[in-house]
Amino acid sequence: MNASAELKASELPPARSLSRLRPALEFVAPYKAQVAIAGGALLTTAAATLAIGQGMRLLIDGTDTSASSLLTNPSLLFTVLVAVLIAGTFLRFYFVSWLGERVTADIRAAVFAHIIHLHPGFFESNAPSEIQSRITTDTTLLQTVIGSSVSIALRNILMFFGGIALMFVTNATMSVLVLSGVPLVVLPVIFFGRRVRSLSRDSQDRLADVGSYAGESLRQIKVVQAFNRQEGDISRFLLRVEEALAVAIKRIRQRSILIVVVMSLAFGAVSALVQYGGASVASVGGPTSGEMAAFIFYAVIVAGSLGAISEVWSDLQRAAGATERLAELLAAPSLIRDGTKVLDASVDSAGVDLRFNQVSFSYPTNPDKTVIKALNLHVSPGEMIAIVGPSGAGKSTLFDLVQRFYDPSNGAVVVNGQDVRELQLTSLRQAFGWVPQDAALFAGSIKENLAYSNSAISEAEIYTALEQAHALDFIETLADGLATRLGEGGVGLSGGQKQRLIIARALLAKPSCLLLDEVTSALDAESESAIRSSIQQLQGRMTILVIAHRLSTVRQADRIVVMRKGEIIAQGTHAELLETSKLYQRYSAMQFAS
Ligand SMILES: Nc1ncnc2c1ncn2[C@@H]1O[C@H](COP(=O)(O)OP(=O)(O)OP(=O)(O)O)[C@@H](O)[C@H]1O
Ligand SMILES: [Mg+2]
Repeated sequence: MNASAELKASELPPARSLSRLRPALEFVAPYKAQVAIAGGALLTTAAATLAIGQGMRLLIDGTDTSASSLLTNPSLLFTVLVAVLIAGTFLRFYFVSWLGERVTADIRAAVFAHIIHLHPGFFESNAPSEIQSRITTDTTLLQTVIGSSVSIALRNILMFFGGIALMFVTNATMSVLVLSGVPLVVLPVIFFGRRVRSLSRDSQDRLADVGSYAGESLRQIKVVQAFNRQEGDISRFLLRVEEALAVAIKRIRQRSILIVVVMSLAFGAVSALVQYGGASVASVGGPTSGEMAAFIFYAVIVAGSLGAISEVWSDLQRAAGATERLAELLAAPSLIRDGTKVLDASVDSAGVDLRFNQVSFSYPTNPDKTVIKALNLHVSPGEMIAIVGPSGAGKSTLFDLVQRFYDPSNGAVVVNGQDVRELQLTSLRQAFGWVPQDAALFAGSIKENLAYSNSAISEAEIYTALEQAHALDFIETLADGLATRLGEGGVGLSGGQKQRLIIARALLAKPSCLLLDEVTSALDAESESAIRSSIQQLQGRMTILVIAHRLSTVRQADRIVVMRKGEIIAQGTHAELLETSKLYQRYSAMQFAS
């Protein structure tokens, strides 16, 4: 994917490349006042710098009596110019850097706010760690550009044109002579700039690889060390670092060549000028020494500004690459469109009514494999259903579909008589308390984790839920209790402790329907039976769907659904299924043995 995107980027004419910065400019727009101050300061400092050349001329050639009093006093003029220059530079630096930081923060926030609503399938084809790198490294690049390069470019463009104008004012013949060399300097800027841009995008991609590789290894540190993969990981990480470095060095080479070419051309012109000037000042009718000094001053400024522009030009190109990547993220559409109807989950105090009508589904990353096949299922309010079946049967996928992490390719999921696609996502998801199969907690205190669905939850409610989830006893053994801090992913607790906290978290969301995916898999017999009795207390008060392997949990359900290869092959009570389903018989004989 990256290779083709790069290819496209390098095929486009350079004039369009900078227009890719436009999405970033939209983020600058709200700060018109700051832009105006920075722009004003920019103009003032450029003008003051250019005026210094005139000051030099006056100083060398003596005073011009017809001019105003300021001009009759060159040293006062200098003091004023320098003061203006200092004040202007302060304002420019402060506001331009401020804009860089502010806009970067806004872009980060906007990207995060956009992608957090995207359909979960998006993160299967776009690795979260790569997106993380875009939000950090790509925005940092933009920060440099908005917070300095743009201002350097603008200042030098002003100096360039201002310098040329004043060269003409000072001595027209010499100006024509010098300026005939300008195209010679501009051409390499355009040529090398293009190369730098495509190398930049490549370089940012490589950098993202480095970041995501390190992130993944560190998150799985125990696996890495258990398999003694440290050395292997180091060399694979090094490979990525070196790849990133190689691209960066290619880019730096292009840039250095560019700077050297521009500088030698520009300063070559200046030194030729100095030699010519030195000879002609002495001759009759030539420029005065003051004119000559001012002219050389402007020529140096023009040459210097060209050098500076060529230097930041590639920064702008790099930023265009980064902006492109961020704009892609900002423009990514969510395949899960929000509905308009509000789900009233309180219609039936016993819970929601849930239907699968001829539902078929394949995961977007594997469209050829139908994971759910024309499945029909009706769960009444207050009913408890156990779903059993071999691994890969599609059990967890059913929970994904009811919560609209994915939409079915055919058929419909219907909650309380409404197609879930017509419902507001927040109201739909509010109705469910989900305990995922590979459950994870977040970094933060236990209390923050429990109150995840609603930070206003009271301590009393938390304790009730903890009791129901059979988690109170172990919380009480922790020195900091609810304030105990967990690491990323809930590090610091045992598997079973995490699982019980996650059950409490689901209960605290006050669901009308509980979705429990193998909740007791990590629990000892005692905790398991305690949770079973908690479920029993909830039974009838809310709709409960439980995916389970343990016979004890399964038997307590009102109805058992047996799934295989995306289909329901049998359903009924435990006793009925023992009669009718061969698969269930095998299951209760082997799998449920506990
Ligand atoms: N994100 C995904 N992308 C592509 N295919 C997937 C994805 N998640 C699951 N699958 C596939 O869909 C099928 C059903 O998966 P599902 O997780 O629903 O099974 P399950 O019945 O819950 O199994 P288990 O008992 O092992 O949890 C499997 O064949 C699996 O490979
Ligand atoms: Mg599963």
